[in-house]
Formats: sequence, structure tokens, C-alpha cells
Amino acid sequence: MTLRYMPDSGRLYGPEYARDPQAVYAELRRRHGAVAPVEIAPGIEAHLVIAYQAAVDVLTNAGGVWSKNPTAWQTRLPDTPEAAGMIAMLGYRPNALFSDGAEHARYRKVISDCFQLVQPHKLRQMVIEVCDSLISQFAAKGEADLVADFARAIPARVFNLLFGRPDSDSAGLAKALSDMMEADGETGARGSDAFSRYIGELIQGKYTQRGDDLTSWFIDHPAGLGSDELAQTIVLVVAASYEPTANLISNTISRMVSDDRYYSSLSNGALSTYDALMEALRAEPAMANYGPYFVRQPVHFHGTWIQPAELVLVSYAAANTEPSNMPEEMRSDGGAYLGFGAGPHRCPASDPAVLIAMTAIERLTSHLCDLELTVPRDGLLWRPGPFHRALAHLPVRFTPIRPDQPGESPWAVQPPSSSIPSEPTFPARSAGYVTSAPWSS
Ligand code: HEM
Repeated sequence: MTLRYMPDSGRLYGPEYARDPQAVYAELRRRHGAVAPVEIAPGIEAHLVIAYQAAVDVLTNAGGVWSKNPTAWQTRLPDTPEAAGMIAMLGYRPNALFSDGAEHARYRKVISDCFQLVQPHKLRQMVIEVCDSLISQFAAKGEADLVADFARAIPARVFNLLFGRPDSDSAGLAKALSDMMEADGETGARGSDAFSRYIGELIQGKYTQRGDDLTSWFIDHPAGLGSDELAQTIVLVVAASYEPTANLISNTISRMVSDDRYYSSLSNGALSTYDALMEALRAEPAMANYGPYFVRQPVHFHGTWIQPAELVLVSYAAANTEPSNMPEEMRSDGGAYLGFGAGPHRCPASDPAVLIAMTAIERLTSHLCDLELTVPRDGLLWRPGPFHRALAHLPVRFTPIRPDQPGESPWAVQPPSSSIPSEPTFPARSAGYVTSAPWSS
């Protein structure tokens, strides 16, 4: 597909971009202003919204001028492996992320209503148990890769439990997700098959027997999702939680262990974990550019003509760091930022996401209080790719701890249980919804 983009498009792929995306945004800002032409893969072009106000203008007009439905764009893509990869990430699915208006509101309500029922203290306890079980696997070694051994393992295990599957199923889910994300075509396809099998078995099992879990609540929600809509909603929740939450955790830890203001806070409290998290959300948002939007008719937007069927990506990462939007000094509320988006599609799970990340990091640093990077932060490898800001590895060392050591240890916890004991429990759909149903208001 040839659009009218300029020849000096920025590239949002390859090692140079992965090494320093902010330098690429700064150059694009200098050359193009608020909206810049970019390539997200060889031959696949997009408009990147890099100014804060322009980003807010898109996000808050979703459903009006702007649509989330990618159908017109994807049908014009060439038949190439690059395009197929982009369709896997951005192609239409019947769920909240790719729909507008009433359709969007219906899908979204299922997700937000059901997340409301996950009680924060129960979720926190679940994360503690998952984290302690992970930490116990490397604590005695004195070294770890906190991406593979910790950050990426957490969301797969936590969401497997939230969906109502036994903890023993989480390894299969984690493997399927990591195969899908990381690998060559064959491994990716195997991961994708395994993920589809996981979702199929999950839904089948919960249709047969409900529990106190997200899947059962999705099934019984008054919106009455059909089986494909249900599957796509679960796919969205897994996809929207896995990468961003893992990256939020590892990006935040990488800042804490390489900055004295946090480093000292690991033991004596200068700046808090929350400060680091806010800084990561602002300066290195995990969903760096994953904000696809489309116009319904030609629009002249902040100096650029945009046509229907052209991909527009809101760059949360560039908008957040636009110089005019940067606070003079670090503020504990992070200042205005778009780490969780804005407008109708703003992340509906930002509170649980922050709770999971905060709990995980605090658990890690309370057991291992002298973590240090084994390479300087600017030597860390980032995964290439246009959408996420994701560390490939986070190698650390620390004083080892042992199971027989006195005091609290990660070995003391029980393995996580398979359901979220949450109240109130919903009546099953067959029981009919009455005004006292939790989401009847
Ligand atoms: C508990 C884990 C998470 C879950 C279940 C979750 C779920 C979702 C869902 C379902 C959406 C689509 C909402 C809609 O279209 O109406 C969404 C959007 C979004 N999420 Fe999350 N999310 C999680 C964690 C995160 C994290 C950690 C970040 C960033 C650090 C993040 C950033 C975003 C952003 C920027 C959007 C807006 C996308 C857009 O404008 O198209 N999310 N999330």
C-alpha cells in the first residue's frame, strides 16, 4: 500500500530504534511537528502522533472523528509476512479495543464490571503468592534475569488464576504467550495454536462449571457475549495485560536499580516504588505506540492530511516526553501523562495493573534488598518492535538467601490457589438478573 507519506519517514523497528526510541521521536518532532510519517515494519506506513495535545485530541474523540475499526486499513495491506504480522497485532477482532460507540460500550462494560469484582486485597495476596513462588526459584542463586525469571512470569500466572484455572496450567499459558511474542514463524504458530487451545479449554470448562473467576463472570454478564465474543474478550484481556504489565514491572525495576534516588530507597526510603512506577509510566510507557486509530473521512489534523484507511498510531511514549509537557522536576504524581491512554478506550484495568506491579516490585525488593544490575542501564538490550517498550533481559545480582535462613522468606508461602475468593458472587445467567445483581445499576 503506497500512501502519501514523506520520504524521510522514521523507522519504528530495528536495533537503532530499540536502543533509543526517544532520540527517534525527538528527530521526528523536529522535522514534522505533532504528527510524523513512520514505517512500523518494512513497507508498512503509519502516521505517528507525537505531541501531547494532539494525542489527547485523538484519544478523547474516539468514536467521533476517530474510529478504532481497522477493517478499511487492513484490507488494503499487501500480502507480505510483515503485513501479516501487523494484522496479528492490529487487525479487527470483535472486542473492546477495535470497536466504537455502543458496540464498544457493551464490550467494555463486561471488562470493567468484572474487574470491579476482583477485590484489591485478594488480588494483592494472589500476587504475593505468585511472586514468592517465583523468587524462591532464584533467591539462593544470587543472580537472576528479572525479565524471564520474574516480570514476564507474573502476568501469565496471575491471569491464569484470575481466569479460574489451576496454577499448574500457568506454565503452558506462559510458554504459549512467549512463543507467540518472541519467535520465528514456526514457533510463533505453535504458540498461537497452544494459546487457542488454552482459551478453548478455559471457556469449555467454565461453560460446564462456573467459579468465582473472571471467565465465569464474563460468561454470566448481562451483556450476553456470544462464544466468539467471549473468546475475543479473553484474548484481549490476556494480550492487553501480559506484555504491558510485564514491561511495566521490568521497566520500573530497571530504573530503581540504576538510580541512586531509588537505590537508597530499597533500604532506607528516598523515593518510593510508586514514584519509580509513575516515572516509568511517563518516560517509558510499556504501551509505547500501541494506540491505533483511524479517521472516518479526510481530516486535516495538526498540520497533516489524514485519509480513511490510513493507520494513525498515538505514541504515548513520545506524547508523554514532549518537552512542553515535561514537569520542571519529578513529581510523585508523575504530572500529566498518557501511560494508560485517555478517553473512551483508556485502560479499564489501570488500578489492578498498578496494584500488580507495585506488589510484585515491593515483594522482590523486600526479599532481595541489595539488587544491582550486572551491566550499566544504558547497556541493557531492548526488544525491537514498534509497539512496546520492552527489555529483553534484566540481569541482576544480589546477596543470596536460603530456605533455612531465619526470618520471612519466599519459601514460606503456600502455592497460589486457583480461584479468586471474591464477593459478591453473581447469579448464573439462567437465574436471571435482579436489581441486586452487582452490575444492574
Ligand atoms: C491488569 C492488566 C491490564 C489489563 C487487563 C488491561 C486491559 C486493557 C483493555 C481491555 C484495554 C482496551 C480498552 C478499550 O478499548 O476500551 C486496554 C487499553 C489500554 N491499556 Fe491496558 N490493561 C492492563 C495493563 C496495562 C498496562 C500495564 C498499561 C501500560 C503501562 C496499559 C495501557 C493501556 C493503554 C495505553 C490502553 C489504551 C489503548 C488505546 O487507546 O487504544 N494497560 N487495557
